[in-house]
Amino acid sequence: MEVLSVEDLRVKLEGREVLKGVNFSLKKGEKVFITGPNGAGKTTFLETLMGFVPFEGEILFKGKHLKSEDDFALLRGRVGYVFQNPDDQLFAPTVEEELAFAPLVKGIKREQVKEIVERTLREFEIKHLRNKPTYKLSGGEKRIVSVACVVTMDPEVILLDEPTTGLDRNKWEKLVEFFERTGSSLVVVTHDTKLMERLGWKRYVMEDGKLCSA
Ligand SMILES: Nc1ncnc2c1ncn2[C@@H]1O[C@H](COP(=O)(O)OP(=O)(O)O)[C@@H](O)[C@H]1O
Ligand SMILES: [Mg+2]
Repeated sequence: MEVLSVEDLRVKLEGREVLKGVNFSLKKGEKVFITGPNGAGKTTFLETLMGFVPFEGEILFKGKHLKSEDDFALLRGRVGYVFQNPDDQLFAPTVEEELAFAPLVKGIKREQVKEIVERTLREFEIKHLRNKPTYKLSGGEKRIVSVACVVTMDPEVILLDEPTTGLDRNKWEKLVEFFERTGSSLVVVTHDTKLMERLGWKRYVMEDGKLCSA
């Protein structure tokens, strides 16, 4: 079953065509890479899928055409987005509060939120960061925390924009293990050839606003 798909997606930013008729579809549980040169439109593509950018064409989530802000609000409850720059993502005073935020907003009970936070701290081996202010984290720590935050939502799909930038060997390995283990569908924008070779998923290339299978 297709979980997310787009048909002839077009985006103009400041009068320039940035996405020029993109077609794409992702099945439940499918994991794919999108690579391609800087400025090709990869980040814009992910932002458009999340409903952050006005577009022409069709975006479908589980077969439903998304049009209104309400449609995208629903999508954002089921699709997680890890920003290219973790500073755009993190805002809570501490890592623990950051991790608790999405589940609390979802209305999950405090006790259960605590369990989710503990499990996530364990899963990503970041227990030692629990009480750290997020602005004091290193670049790599910020990135792993921003992935962990999205995982607390238990999303059906996760879109990640260059998630391995700045990770040391150990955090890189943790992230790869998560990618292998998760049941969520994944779209990973990356230049990391080691990552693509290790996981061997289907690759797409974005070039000048167009998406092709590699
Ligand atoms: N808010 C914006 N306003 C105008 N142009 C933008 C904006 N965001 C991105 N662009 C332009 O759109 C193109 C694609 O950018 P982007 O999606 O960030 O590419 P990539 O992630 O592949 O490097 C670039 O030429 C960039 O300058
Ligand atoms: Mg980008």
